[in-house]
Amino acid sequence: MALPSELRSLLGLVEERRARHERDEVVRLVAGARDGHPGCWVDQLGELCVLALYGALPVDPERQRDELAAALRASGLEHWIWKQRNAAGGYTYLFSAPALREQRFVAREGELRFEIRCDPKDDFGVFTDAAAARTLVASLARGLRVLNLFSYTGGFALAALRGGATQVTNVDASKPMLTWSKRNAEWNGVDFAVVPDTAQRYLRRLVERKAAGKDHPFDVIILDPPAFGVGRGDERILRKAWPEMLRCVAALEPAHVLLAFNDFAYRRCEPIDALVEQHFARGWKLRWLDDAGEPLRDRRLLASSADPNYAPPVFAHLARASLSEGKVPPTAQ
Ligand SMILES: C[S@@+](CC[C@H](N)C(=O)[O-])C[C@H]1O[C@@H](n2cnc3c(N)ncnc32)[C@H](O)[C@@H]1O
Repeated sequence: MALPSELRSLLGLVEERRARHERDEVVRLVAGARDGHPGCWVDQLGELCVLALYGALPVDPERQRDELAAALRASGLEHWIWKQRNAAGGYTYLFSAPALREQRFVAREGELRFEIRCDPKDDFGVFTDAAAARTLVASLARGLRVLNLFSYTGGFALAALRGGATQVTNVDASKPMLTWSKRNAEWNGVDFAVVPDTAQRYLRRLVERKAAGKDHPFDVIILDPPAFGVGRGDERILRKAWPEMLRCVAALEPAHVLLAFNDFAYRRCEPIDALVEQHFARGWKLRWLDDAGEPLRDRRLLASSADPNYAPPVFAHLARASLSEGKVPPTAQ
C-alpha cells in the first residue's frame, strides 16, 4: 500500500523546516492547520523528532510500518517517534528503533538546555507550545522570586533564572519530575528549590500563612496545570480546581501571575475570561496571549481552534496595576 500524498507533503515541509535549525534545537516544525496540515504536529526536540497525528491521515502505522520508516529515514530523520490516534481512541506509537524509548538527548531552546527522554509516557521533557511563555517569564523575572506550580521538568524555572530571578521554587506532585527538573538545572548550571506537593495544597498553605500575618516569598506565580492531575475523583480533574487556585493566587497578591490554559475541552465549556476577571477584578492588568506570545486578537479564540484536532494553550498574564505603573516590586533591586 503506497503512502498518501499528504504524508509526502508533510515530510517535505519537515525537511525544509529542519534545514533552518541546528540539530540540537527544540522547535515546533509543523503546527497543524496553521501550517496547512490539519491534525499533524511535528516537534524537533534536539536529536529526537516527534510526529503526532491527531487527525485522520490515511496511514496504517501497523501495516505500513516499513514504508513509513523508509520515508522518515529518506527525509533525514534518524531518531523519531510516530504517534497516531487510533480507532480505539488511544495512540499507536512507532519508534525509529526499539532502544530509542530508553534514550536521552540534551536539546537547546535558545540558551536553555533540556534533557529529552523518549518514553512517550513522560511527554519528552519540553512543551514547545509554551516557548513564547517561557520567553515572557524570562523577560519579567529580573530581581524577582518565582513560584512555578505544576513545574514538570522546570522549563519556566530555567527561563526565570536565565531572566535574572533571584530564586525559584518548583512545585510538582511527581518526585520523578522534580528529579528530572534538577537534572535540567545541572545542565543549565543553575539551581532551584523543589517541593513535592500538589499545587492546590501548597497554595492553600501559603494563603493560611498570609492570613496568619506571615508574608509569602513570591513575586511571580506561574500556574500551568494539565487537564488531569494526580489523585482520585474530583481531585484529579483539574478544571474543578481552577476557581480555588485562582482565589488563592489573587489573595497572595504577587507582582505577576502567568496562567496557562491547556485543557481545550474546559475552555470550550467554561468562559475562562470571565473566571479570571472575577478573581482578579480590581488592581490588575490582564493580557491574553496566544502560544506565539502575541496578544489574542479575538476572545473567541479562547474557546475555538483553527485545528479541529488540537488547540494550543492560551495564557493570561496578570500584572498588579500599581506595580506595572511604575512602583518597584518589593524584592526588585
Ligand atoms: C502539563 S505538565 C506542566 C507543564 C510545565 N509547567 C512546563 O513548563 O512544561 C503537568 C505536570 O503537572 C504535574 N501535576 C499533576 N497534578 C498535579 C497537582 N495536583 N499538583 C502539582 N503538580 C501536578 C505532573 O506531575 C506534571 O509534571
